[in-house]
Amino acid sequence: TPAGRYEAENATISRGVVESNHAGYSGTGFVNYDNASGAYVQWTVTAAAGPVTLRLRYANGTTADRPMTITVNGATVATAMSFPGTGAWTTWQTGTLTANLAAGTNTIRATATTANGGPNVDYLEVQP
Ligand code: GCU
Repeated sequence: TPAGRYEAENATISRGVVESNHAGYSGTGFVNYDNASGAYVQWTVTAAAGPVTLRLRYANGTTADRPMTITVNGATVATAMSFPGTGAWTTWQTGTLTANLAAGTNTIRATATTANGGPNVDYLEVQP
């Protein structure tokens, strides 16, 4: 699997909007999740079979955690992963997890688990 960056604004978005009003993002913007449980961003990643590191870059300008469940091809790899406050909507940090990808096309989804929705999400990076 080659290392790659997958911008959230180019992904499939369910209950969220692309915005660019908070500086520091990569690409042309970020996804502002609706303040709703179940809102998600889903990326399509072509890979070889095997483990990768997933890096989700995000900002959370509140003091409340904005947990998201991460699934790969429909299987949960992280339940309610923590995306705590970053201090400002313009302060971006990275949450990291590992997952196994399948050969070919994979769908990687980050779904908000609380009524606050997800943090603002900038991109997913995949690193072999
Ligand atoms: C503010 C902020 C948004 C953020 C939202 C939220 O409106 O400007 O970027 O997504 O709060 O709490 O989700």
